[in-house]
Amino acid sequence: MSGAPEGRTRQELRSSQWYGESVSSGLRSFSHRARTRQLGYLPEEHLGKPVIAVLNTWSDINPCHSHLRERAQAVKRGVWQAGGFPLEFPVSTLSETFQKPTPMLYRNLLAMETEELLRSYPVDGAVLLGGCDKTTPALLMGAASVDLPAVFVPAGPMLPGHWRGETLGSGTDMWKYWDDHRAGLIGDCELTELESGLARSPGHCMTMGTASTLTAAAEALGVTVPGASSIPAVDSGHDRMAAASGLRIVELVRQDRRLSRILTADAFADAVTTVLGLGGSTNAVIHLIAMAGRAGVELTLDDFDRIARTVPVLANVRPGGQRYLMEDFHFAGGLPGFLSRITDLLHLDRPTVCHDTLREQLAGARVHDADVIRTRDDPVAAEGGVAVLRGNLCPDGAVIKHIAAEPHLLRHTGPAVVFDDYRTMQRTIHDPALGITPDHVLVLRGSGPKGGPGMPEYGMLPIPDHLLKQGVRDMVRISDARMSGTSYGTCVLHVAPESYVGGPLALVRTGDLITLDVAARTLRLEVPDEELARRREQWTPPPARYERGYGALYGEQITQADTGCDFAFLARPGTVPDPYAG
Ligand code: FES
Ligand code: MG
Repeated sequence: MSGAPEGRTRQELRSSQWYGESVSSGLRSFSHRARTRQLGYLPEEHLGKPVIAVLNTWSDINPCHSHLRERAQAVKRGVWQAGGFPLEFPVSTLSETFQKPTPMLYRNLLAMETEELLRSYPVDGAVLLGGCDKTTPALLMGAASVDLPAVFVPAGPMLPGHWRGETLGSGTDMWKYWDDHRAGLIGDCELTELESGLARSPGHCMTMGTASTLTAAAEALGVTVPGASSIPAVDSGHDRMAAASGLRIVELVRQDRRLSRILTADAFADAVTTVLGLGGSTNAVIHLIAMAGRAGVELTLDDFDRIARTVPVLANVRPGGQRYLMEDFHFAGGLPGFLSRITDLLHLDRPTVCHDTLREQLAGARVHDADVIRTRDDPVAAEGGVAVLRGNLCPDGAVIKHIAAEPHLLRHTGPAVVFDDYRTMQRTIHDPALGITPDHVLVLRGSGPKGGPGMPEYGMLPIPDHLLKQGVRDMVRISDARMSGTSYGTCVLHVAPESYVGGPLALVRTGDLITLDVAARTLRLEVPDEELARRREQWTPPPARYERGYGALYGEQITQADTGCDFAFLARPGTVPDPYAG
């Protein structure tokens, strides 16, 4: 741990504005002290101590966070022992599995809730408990906007799945066995058994899906205690990590080490390097751009493509890797071990929540299994897992996780089969009358940030049944949607601008030729410009998806995928008055 500069005095704590310095500090502090007694606390238990908000995304509906009620207790234990005063705040849970149309619609809502809770209550520092996909970026976006000291406690991966002697990855194997069922290779009885084997403990998905990618990004940014992100959710080490986070946050408040000291341009560059070297989820592209925006750091799609060319994929974790799951990754050395392989690509002089430099944090980090965390000479893939495409079909960019695609499709020209929206696609894609062949390019539109709405994870369009039965398991698919981090296939995603706002995807017609060339980083619609201009004249914008409520606000404010899908009014710079200033 770093040497602490002189601690802040009681009067310098933000919470002292609420509690005052003495009994006669004023009516408001009299009231706040009386109400804290009402909570059952003695004045000597809390007055003058840093108030630590423990923001908890636990909910009965979120299986990935079902252990976070107990973990919050461990965090509080650490806070008390360090001389702080912990207060737990339940915040919106974003359950990837259950929330429709997609929890992405609500990421910015949790970010707003996080920001406003931390600002409006007597809080000196925060511990953020999250992990299921969108919760990590949402909590960090909100906390970055308030800029208090904060530590992130990742929920940790669930235990590996098991079924008939096989190790199962949540998500990834769900898609795989669902396809096997559609192809007639397994029956209902096997599916029922799989229901019990796929996800068998609390914790987030244990593949290198969106959750594991984003919690690793949080650790790489420096906002967790070292090694936190891969600790299995039900390991007793997870409790200890939670307590350590509670101990640490009190020290951070005393040092006044705010998030802005941690979330620098160098930190975001390292987080990008990390997610690419892990072969992580494409969702990280959107979330990291949005998180950087809140920290005042400009991060672009081109940064991802540039960095991808410099970093090999070293994590042999499914779905990008062949074999292993997050528990294997953890015991192979976890993120510190992984980062120790790429120190030449990182900014080692920047601070983290626990150390003055990342260099100091990584001292002693080791890899214990070189098949799980590969060496630079023996990578899973020579380049980072995500490529950014440009071309007349995606003027503002698109992404593809090419390491999870069939190599022969990475350069492909084929005729488009266009679906205007997800429901139409679901209804018609298996109809043999469409005459879809393995060479066709499946195009789905109406699934972007505004059109989806919320960019649902529709991007891994199903292979038509008749092709699946012939053994076809991958085709080129293009959409303005996202894809689950546990998915795979030659899926071009995040096409920007989206079709709903009139992006060129809106102009594609069935039969048009489309060329994908990942090596050249291009995606082209082989239709002359004059013809596209003619089609554009005939195009009319679709009606608003929501007439009222949160969805209407979302539709008005959401930005496109290439800029992170934040709300425009949250992403823009500007000051917010302190609640006690008025
Ligand atoms: Fe929660 Fe996958 S469903 S992380
Ligand atoms: Mg997911």
